[in-house]
Amino acid sequence: MYKRVATALSFASLVLGQQVGTLTAEKHPSLPIEVCTAPGSCTKEDTTVVLDANWRWTHVTSGYTNCYTGNAWNTTACPDGKTCAANCAIDGADYEKTYGITTPQSGALRLNFVTKNENGQNVGSRVYLMASDDKYRLFNLLNKEFTFDVDVSKLPCGLNGAVYFSEMDEDGGKSRFSGNKAGAKYGTGYCDSQCPQDIKFINGEANVEGWGGSDGNSGTGNYGTCCAEMDIWEANLDATAYTPHPCKVNEQTRCEGIDCGSGDNRYSGLCDKDGCDFNSFRMGNKDFYGPEKTVDTSKPFTIVTQFVTDDGTDSGTLKSIHRFYVQDGKVIPNSETVIEGVDPVNYISDEFCQQQKTAFGDNNYFATVGGMAAMGKSLEKMVLVLSVWDDHAVSMNWLDSNYPTDADPSKPGVARGRCDPEAGLPERVEKEHPDAYVVYSNLKLGAINSTFTAA
Ligand SMILES: *[C@@H]1O[C@H](CO)[C@@H](O)[C@H](O)[C@H]1NC(C)=O
Ligand SMILES: *[C@@H]1O[C@H](CO)[C@@H](O)[C@H](O)[C@H]1NC(C)=O
Repeated sequence: MYKRVATALSFASLVLGQQVGTLTAEKHPSLPIEVCTAPGSCTKEDTTVVLDANWRWTHVTSGYTNCYTGNAWNTTACPDGKTCAANCAIDGADYEKTYGITTPQSGALRLNFVTKNENGQNVGSRVYLMASDDKYRLFNLLNKEFTFDVDVSKLPCGLNGAVYFSEMDEDGGKSRFSGNKAGAKYGTGYCDSQCPQDIKFINGEANVEGWGGSDGNSGTGNYGTCCAEMDIWEANLDATAYTPHPCKVNEQTRCEGIDCGSGDNRYSGLCDKDGCDFNSFRMGNKDFYGPEKTVDTSKPFTIVTQFVTDDGTDSGTLKSIHRFYVQDGKVIPNSETVIEGVDPVNYISDEFCQQQKTAFGDNNYFATVGGMAAMGKSLEKMVLVLSVWDDHAVSMNWLDSNYPTDADPSKPGVARGRCDPEAGLPERVEKEHPDAYVVYSNLKLGAINSTFTAA
């Protein structure tokens, strides 16, 4: 990777836009996937990954001056969102040195949690699968299954190695928003069902209005970026959940105010932030997932997620989402629910969600937003996200500990894992487990039951 000083040409950039920096060349790490029609009948695709724009150095197009430092915008370069996008560029990334992102072997991606670098340290990362140098790889998951291997053995309580799909634009929003000159090649256009407001550029404009630094390197602005999200895998060594999160919108949508669903507006926003989760521990089987459990997380295993439609076609209505694990050549069906008032099923459907929400006393905003059918509509064109993160809001307690934290853990739905609620405090987990990492490998998309073999 070489560094090139920006030339006078950058000054001549008169069009408004979230510009492209040229100080570091952008080279996407290779992560091929396979597309299968039957067991053993798979075709390789030469896909790559790209780092999300939010992690990148943002500087004035004419040189090295930061547009954003710590958790504050430079008010000279960024008096407002449009001007900022015109003045500032996001640059190429040194994946390994700066961010701890590597491909240990073909078809495998390793994400390190904390990476010491020349600027201090990087915490966590988020990458997207690309079909070409400037387009994300779009997935239609209906009537299909998605499969990959994971090694979470070095991912302790409080961390989240996440594999999920978000309904992002194929080109990162470049064609829809004239202010965005960088596009998917630089990891732009992120959105998810939490309508995150910590995203620096949304719809080709900087999110400077109302920006407040929360802690460390992040802040939040007035705008959020919403879209449907299918969480295939949110997990660490001790807990896991898979969760559909539909939205009222069917593409990446910028939100403001109530639509973002923050705080008291949680059940009035564009998206279902809670989702309808299947976490084996929370659903009553505490011995299914973890070190030395039925799915033994001390060593690698395979995760299969199937999207079954009502008529068994790729254009049908999503009916249920099934899960298998494969470890040591053995197919392990997902655990069955053991909660009073919920049928003993091991998959997600509208009925399961209704019963679970009622049993746990949770708001079924999943149904309000459209449930499985709405999720299915979004599943026709999703972008794959692979990440590792810690949780500055609630220490990942919603995944691996008791949540709400002040609720009685014996009340159904409160206990989600056996982790200490303090274990996920960001300052603690960053200090105690900087060497944590996750490896994802052998990603496959295919017809139902085509990507793995039952021994
Ligand atoms: C802010 O940007 C301007 C140029 O746009 C630059 O002259 C100034 O030094 C920057 N301020 C900081 C604190 O980086
Ligand atoms: C896929 O395999 C599972 C487990 O062996 C089986 O229960 C299911 O019926 C199969 N589905 C299809 C569509 O073949």
